[in-house]
Amino acid sequence: MKKILELKNVIKTFPGVVALNNVNFDLYQGEVHALLGENGAGKSTLIKIISGVYKPDSGDIFLDGEKINFSSPTEAIKKGIATIHQELNLFEELSVAENVFVGRVDKFVFSRSKMVKVVDELLKKLKFPIRANEKVKNLNTSEKQLVSIAKALSLNAKIIIMDEPTATITDHETKRLFEIIKDLKRKNISIIFISHRLEEVFEIADRVTVLRDGNYINSISIKEVSREDLIKMMVGRNIEEMYPKFNVITDKELFRIEKLQVKDYVENVTFNVNKGEIFGIAGLVGSGKLEIALGIYGYLRSNWDKLVLDGRTYLPGKDMLKHGIALVPEDRKKMGLVLDMDVVKNIVLPNVDEISKFGKISWKRARDMVASEVKKYSIKISSIKQKVKTLSGGNQQKVVLSKVLRKKPKIVFLVEPTRGIDVGAKVEVYNIINKLANDGVGVVFISSELPEIVSLCDRVLVMHRGRSMGILEKGEITQESILKLATGVDIK
Ligand SMILES: Nc1ncnc2c1ncn2[C@@H]1O[C@H](COP(=O)(O)OP(=O)(O)OP(=O)(O)O)[C@@H](O)[C@H]1O
Ligand SMILES: [Mg+2]
Repeated sequence: MKKILELKNVIKTFPGVVALNNVNFDLYQGEVHALLGENGAGKSTLIKIISGVYKPDSGDIFLDGEKINFSSPTEAIKKGIATIHQELNLFEELSVAENVFVGRVDKFVFSRSKMVKVVDELLKKLKFPIRANEKVKNLNTSEKQLVSIAKALSLNAKIIIMDEPTATITDHETKRLFEIIKDLKRKNISIIFISHRLEEVFEIADRVTVLRDGNYINSISIKEVSREDLIKMMVGRNIEEMYPKFNVITDKELFRIEKLQVKDYVENVTFNVNKGEIFGIAGLVGSGKLEIALGIYGYLRSNWDKLVLDGRTYLPGKDMLKHGIALVPEDRKKMGLVLDMDVVKNIVLPNVDEISKFGKISWKRARDMVASEVKKYSIKISSIKQKVKTLSGGNQQKVVLSKVLRKKPKIVFLVEPTRGIDVGAKVEVYNIINKLANDGVGVVFISSELPEIVSLCDRVLVMHRGRSMGILEKGEITQESILKLATGVDIK
């Protein structure tokens, strides 16, 4: 097979961190090459070097045998390298069509209406359910991801790089994306694919390259490795138990909500959570599972007949954060983090009381607090002064968990808490969730990942079109039973 791209001995450092340390990478024509590694391993940095965002400190890059040295992303695009970045660089105020064409030379040959027409045709061909003249700000996270994919595909590139394209889209859309990838392969286009979901890697990749802590570990054909091998290469050790479970449920009720209504999203949902329990909420995208949390928290307009937390009753309209309800949001960029601030300020912000005396903040205590959080969650940073936006995706998620849980809430709604998190960190998050439950914090675990719901939860409420389809008890929780309810089949 023909080598289309080759990187040799690439080094890239940032202040205080060696992101890539002598990394080699090669890509064949027409192959799907998965890039694997824990959070912070250097995956995004590597693809940013290939796509002209960063220049390497040293090392060589060959495209089609020719040595290249991109000085901008536009140059890489011109040479046929299209990239879907992990942090989608879309313009919220512009339409889908404009986003697809932004930064392109050929956009000038099109009138606006022609552009919309071309993009509508593309979206139709891809079977993506979005309209070209819709403003991007009106789209949800998953639709935005589809826009980015469409944009990359429209460039007619010979190499397409996808940095965690499936992290935010639905299973159905992932299937569609994989059909598209297979089609690109048939056209001899090469794909670099990043995902923390190993089952996807086994489904779609021909070869994998593993990075660990910025070091090149191995490149190998997917047929020659097992899941365990890959995990070991990524984390450098065996993981005994992927889904640790050691929470102990008590019969003491901690939380109860009756007849929750969330305008436009949720109708008539009732459930309770006991001390020590991990309570799951499952459902397809758009089922209202996420909106249950946003409604109770007060982020969406909601109403209820009764809400009891720790023996006290609350009426709708109260600031529930003050009363011990916490939320780890799905969209960490929009609701969870202040990207331009450093790690200290992000974690300290909601927890100032703890480190202030007579209204004055002690920065020493702040730093101590943050250092202990960084240790607790194994957050990989070069210094606590590092801006959150330069952390790798998974480490950003850990910062959100830390800042929310530090407040010691009475009950926490975790929305897709392991999204974008590597295998090792996932196990850490599951451990944290178990410990939280045992410390008496109510845990409501909302996730689209059925394996983790099935393995971790004591009971699971399944949503379908804004309504509860029922609550599965421990012995009844399987992927099949959840899926049946989630698609509207009544199994009880
Ligand atoms: N602009 C930057 N400034 C400083 N440090 C950076 C910058 N970009 C990346 N880093 C650091 O380089 C390392 C590699 O980050 P990178 O984003 O490549 O990881 P990743 O493998 O993509 O992780 P994830 O799976 O979490 O997305 C991390 O330690 C990260 O904090
Ligand atoms: Mg990344």
